Amino acid sequence: MPKSTIKGLGFYVPENIVTNHDLTKIMDTSDEWIKERTGIKERRWVNDDKLSTSLMGTYAAKKAISDSGLDKNDIDFIIFSTLSPDYYFPGSGVLLQKNLGIKEVGALDVRNQCSGFIYGLSIADQYIKSGMYKNILVVGSEIHSGGLDKSSRGRSVSVIFGDGAGAAVVSATDSDSCILSTHLHSEGKFAEELAVIKPATTFWIDKIVKNDDESYFPYMNGNFVFKNAVVRFEQVIFEALNYSNLKTEDINLLITHQANLRISQYIQKRLKLTDSQVFNNIMKYGNTTAASIPIALTEAYQSNLIKKGDIVVLAAFGSGFTWGSALIKW
Ligand code: UT7
Repeated sequence: MPKSTIKGLGFYVPENIVTNHDLTKIMDTSDEWIKERTGIKERRWVNDDKLSTSLMGTYAAKKAISDSGLDKNDIDFIIFSTLSPDYYFPGSGVLLQKNLGIKEVGALDVRNQCSGFIYGLSIADQYIKSGMYKNILVVGSEIHSGGLDKSSRGRSVSVIFGDGAGAAVVSATDSDSCILSTHLHSEGKFAEELAVIKPATTFWIDKIVKNDDESYFPYMNGNFVFKNAVVRFEQVIFEALNYSNLKTEDINLLITHQANLRISQYIQKRLKLTDSQVFNNIMKYGNTTAASIPIALTEAYQSNLIKKGDIVVLAAFGSGFTWGSALIKW
């Protein structure tokens, strides 16, 4: 049976840097509060109308394809994870396909928010193991900035989120350097604890009449999400380790979805991991949802923090609630 490996990585973030100080000019917040509660110093927010979620994903994908040494025509399936698609429909996968000029391969959109990249990676892994495809492009891309409540009312949500895109080429391999396992979960009873409710089929756009209607901005029950996140991250990391009879000492690098630095630090402490076993970059980019893991993975890889044979653990938790992990032997 073929196995799958990450053959190429790339990421793209918009040029426009928004610091915590910049945010203090538009809402009642402070650099101290944001750094202390989230670890974030700055994030990227798109300020170019031409830049869409699919276009940022395309830029990241081009880099990942180039890094893999393959040609775009070698890609036989596209998986696009996002909670901020260009359009209500169609999905952003087909738009990326158009941008890249890839002909008639399948394109699938994944709607699993912060866990979207892990879900996409898992789908790619299974398709490759089944022999159906050989080279799958997995993309996570988000533009949050346009949909945030940037007034003081929305401060507990809007200071966290950033825009960006990351991509991986997942390819068939016979080598032992491969994705060892993936683990996916969800708990729909908490779907509304972190959500954008409108517009939707339950509230079509023509019913949104009042400007002060908060329900078309992201809502997050922050403390509740935090408490669930720390539990689920730990569970799903151990699920992955146990599957391969590995221990926390065997982890060379843990990359969690960059939701909040305090969450990552809590997990690190619980798992008794050293600083060199954990990679974080939320300080620079904020929480980029489906893009956060591929951006962080690419940065870690480009910084030579991952070498052949390393055990790399990826883990995500977020809206849905959904969560998941992937264990990779590099
Ligand atoms: O990516 C998907 C998964 N998402 C997550 O995992 C996020 C999980 N949650 C969190 O990261 C945190 O809950 C937040 C960063 C969202 C909030 O941090 P917190 O430590 O839970 O703060 P809080 O919501 O309990 O608010 C504490 C105080 C409140 O004031 P009072 O009531 O104590 O007077 C808030 O009004 O901080 C206030 N506050 C702010 N102050 C300055 C909330 N947001 C801000 C802000 N600037 N931006």
